[in-house]
Amino acid sequence: MDNQENQHIPHTVARTIGFDLVRAVEAASLRAYRWLGCGDKLAADEAATDAMRGMLNLIDMQGLCVIGEGIKDEAPGIFRNEKLGLGTSNSPRVNFAIDPIDGTRLTAKGLPGAISVLAATVVSAESERVLIELPSFYCYKLAYGPAVREAGISLELDAPLEETLSKIAACLDKRVEDLVVGLLDRDRHEKEIAAVRKLGARIRLIGDGDVAMAIAPSMLNSTVDVYLGVGGSPEAVIAAAAIKCLGGEMLVRMWPRDDAELQELKDSAWSQNLDQVYSCDDLASGEDIIFVSCGISDSPMLDGVSVRGQHAYTHSILMQATFRTVRYVEAIHDLSRKTIRLASDEQEHRL
Ligand code: FBP
Repeated sequence: MDNQENQHIPHTVARTIGFDLVRAVEAASLRAYRWLGCGDKLAADEAATDAMRGMLNLIDMQGLCVIGEGIKDEAPGIFRNEKLGLGTSNSPRVNFAIDPIDGTRLTAKGLPGAISVLAATVVSAESERVLIELPSFYCYKLAYGPAVREAGISLELDAPLEETLSKIAACLDKRVEDLVVGLLDRDRHEKEIAAVRKLGARIRLIGDGDVAMAIAPSMLNSTVDVYLGVGGSPEAVIAAAAIKCLGGEMLVRMWPRDDAELQELKDSAWSQNLDQVYSCDDLASGEDIIFVSCGISDSPMLDGVSVRGQHAYTHSILMQATFRTVRYVEAIHDLSRKTIRLASDEQEHRL
């Protein structure tokens, strides 16, 4: 195979595999929907994971989960280094960052904002890593949309919020008080929330689910201009993949939870990277990046699953970095026929 062909293959696969991946997030959301409001976030997560794994394992690929979500809260996620797909020897190598439910608590409470989500990238060698797994549990994030990134201004994570928000407002041709800033509703954000309020800007606090909130400023017609604050590190990489597909940006730095984690990081191979600020390109490099998500409960990004009569409706989004194409996929599933393959028993199940 010559070089030209070699370079061509990943792009081709990245253009076609996305729809298979949409089926995987649809399956996760349809299963999670059965647990909406059930009060048991682990059961919901387990159901979504089983369906997503079952569907991913039907795809002809040598899939590898490089960023899983199972470690946090000992949730039953798809785990790091887990192999996915049929794995035939000539099939494409696809690396994944996966979160079968971002917003497990939201799902368990039947609250808005839960999605199933994954980022994927086609790699040419087994050892190649394009999605970077940050070792810290949390990281600090500052996400903004294409208009701000394209203005070429320099934004710094350590700059006073007043400076950051006025620069962003100028790029968006808005007053600071008309900016909408999204944050996770956590005590650790007390200082940021107070600072944004003092500046007079609007705030959108969310209970959970910062993948969608980090992506929000990059969406067309978004009502959120900036996302900032501390959230999960796996979620940062997944959001970075989407933001890259949309032409926005997110700056990210590891945020050790406590002295013990800080010491662990200092003693690790990552000690030199503690102050490093990562961009979306650092976290999800290359062009063959794919992002897919399906709503579980309603959110500003996607409607959730709904059932009318015999039919279940799902709403998914598929983005691809090379051409920055964004597709919305609305699917109607006939419940009298629809089955989902679960990985746990490798059988098809009615919904
Ligand atoms: P899960 O649904 O996977 O538990 O994550 C929800 C979430 O809100 C993420 O979106 C966010 O990055 C993280 O948890 C924040 O962590 P914490 O709840 O510990 O503040």
